[in-house]
Amino acid sequence: CPSNSQMEESFGLRSANCRAKGGSPGFKVAILGAAGGIGQPLAMLMKMNPLVSVLHLYDVVNAPGVTADISHMDTGAVVRGFLGQPQLESALTGMDLVIIPAGVPRKPGMTRDDLFNINAGIVRTLCEGIAKCCPRAVVNLISNPVNSTVPIAAEVFKKAGTYDPKRLLGVTMLDVVRANTFVAEVLGLDPREVDVPVVGGHAGVTILPLLSQVKPPSSFTPDEVEYLTNRIQNGGTEVVEAKAGAGSATLSMAYSAVKFADACLRGLRGDAGVVECAFVASEVTELPFFASKVRLGRNGAEEVFQLGPLNEYERVGLEKAKKELAASIQKGISFIRK
Ligand code: NAD
Ligand code: LMR
Repeated sequence: CPSNSQMEESFGLRSANCRAKGGSPGFKVAILGAAGGIGQPLAMLMKMNPLVSVLHLYDVVNAPGVTADISHMDTGAVVRGFLGQPQLESALTGMDLVIIPAGVPRKPGMTRDDLFNINAGIVRTLCEGIAKCCPRAVVNLISNPVNSTVPIAAEVFKKAGTYDPKRLLGVTMLDVVRANTFVAEVLGLDPREVDVPVVGGHAGVTILPLLSQVKPPSSFTPDEVEYLTNRIQNGGTEVVEAKAGAGSATLSMAYSAVKFADACLRGLRGDAGVVECAFVASEVTELPFFASKVRLGRNGAEEVFQLGPLNEYERVGLEKAKKELAASIQKGISFIRK
């Protein structure tokens, strides 16, 4: 790919080193699927993140064009592009954080699980590359169905002998972002003041907002609880239907992915008290993976928090969520073990 790589070839690493200065620890971040609907705005926003010194953009199509475009932004990160499977290993070598939005999105009428057949294989190949080239990287997995792709990634890493459960995080941030927005609308607050824990997983009834734990402390009528729970659980479908065949959420997802990646980088830097929801290896329930609040630190998800007190409505929702989650997790595990 052109741009920074050409400069580095012509002038040695001087320009890259120079641009990576600026006082931050300068993390190296790769985006796999960087030319897609999520990948492009995500790449743009990560190029603006002062914690990023090197940004690798990998895709099986259009990576050179996206890289040339993004690399003209006058921010610190050095951008390099990588096109196609033969360049996957170069894209991954030395990375601290790998963000994966590669794979096909839903069309109206589809469930996230309908994406399994295509996306499972894509995630397997990309994770094999991570195990080989940057086994200590923190992985943010966005590709759907997250409830199955995270177990797939875990199995790939186990097979390679590199699995560290703290470093594999399924991105459920969009559920939290939506929940904050919809709850703020109902309460008449600024969404930036609202914090809604969303636990479970990332599909339909597995998305479980804990409205009894909203901050600032708030009470809701039964109708409001029903409306908010349904809207948060079906937020993805709302966008898929509005886009009418042109894909699923990309812009709000890129925003959410950057919010989550930034939290991971602050954790890696050693900042205290970085807490976000994510779908991780967990002992919070009897299931091997579950989304809940986690504390992000130098090693990834260093602490997985318990759910806290649930009301009756949430307890019923939790049982429904666990039933569906168990099947999706098993499907992912079986895909690799079969
Ligand atoms: P998209 O089709 O616009 O982009 C996907 C990109 O992945 C394309 O550029 C494609 O070339 C690339 N790709 C395909 N196979 C690849 C491979 N083997 N290696 C590298 N790149 C590859 O789709 P999108 O809208 O960006 O969505 C991507 C995925 O993210 C979908 O699976 C979607 O369901 C999921 N998603 C998840 C969340 C979440 O909250 N976790 C939210 C929105 C979308
Ligand atoms: C979302 O929640 O927007 C994503 O998971 C994409 C989808 O298919 O709904």
